[in-house]
Amino acid sequence: MTDLVTTETFDGIMRITLNRADKKNAITLAMYDGIVDGLKAAEADPAVRVAILTGAGDAFTAGNDLIDFMQNPPDLAGESPVGRFLAALTTFPKILIAAVNGIAVGVGTTLLLHCDLVYAADTARFSMPFTSLGLVPEAASSLIVPAMIGHRKAAQLFLFGDQFDAATAADLGFVNEVVTAANLAAHVEAKARRLTGLAPSALRLTKQLMKSGTVDVAERMKEEGAIFGAQLRGPEVAEAIGAFFEKRKPDFSRFAA
Ligand code: COA
Repeated sequence: MTDLVTTETFDGIMRITLNRADKKNAITLAMYDGIVDGLKAAEADPAVRVAILTGAGDAFTAGNDLIDFMQNPPDLAGESPVGRFLAALTTFPKILIAAVNGIAVGVGTTLLLHCDLVYAADTARFSMPFTSLGLVPEAASSLIVPAMIGHRKAAQLFLFGDQFDAATAADLGFVNEVVTAANLAAHVEAKARRLTGLAPSALRLTKQLMKSGTVDVAERMKEEGAIFGAQLRGPEVAEAIGAFFEKRKPDFSRFAA
């Protein structure tokens, strides 16, 4: 496992930390593999009852590494580190808590839709700027977000891709609770410890029952993955990512609507 993803196990809890603070924990291919390894280890270890996913430093994650996006366009629907990550995330059978300690961009926000409990620091910021990158939503967010908040509000989040704050994220249902940044780790640990004292098979079966509609999720991820992959290889994404690294606004005016 790469040291850009670290895991610690204590008292029935495994904490998985994205550990690339200098790049706002942007997730590389190796890091997706690292998270999958962590989730699989948590699943396989009978002593681990709860997993926590969090970020080092002041960011949760800036989403997929944009250089990887260009150099190694992932197959979201199949055998790629991102595909394996999405599969592991959406089928993880134990309780998964996200501790959103800072900015959560792209998959940083959409992965939360598959966590059981999400706690955010008041400094956390969320966004799903897929269209600004010439991309489309992933992780079945195109299915789950409209179901959660309705088409109109989902359209506002997805079409503009604007950032929203932690209080808004809680109002919309992305987040269970917002706490001060200084209290986040302890708050999440206390919630995790409470879960470790509960009946493990009852927790697992309850999660399984709540997630019994996941056939739709898997199908939607395939559908999204095909479109996402085609866009990723197209000229809009090249313009958008080029603009990000050149620190300028993207110019989409030459593309037909
Ligand atoms: N992929 C690769 N590198 C990234 C990255 C990403 N997704 N997000 C941030 N970085 C890098 C920056 O290039 C910068 O590197 P440098 O120090 O070598 O110049 C470093 O991380 C810090 O980012 P910076 O933009 O200076 O921090 P900020 O606090 O001003 O802004 C973000 C933070 C997350 C708002 C901003 O970096 C951003 O918008 N990143 C792109 C997010 C994105 O589009 N993700 C994909 C979603 S599908």
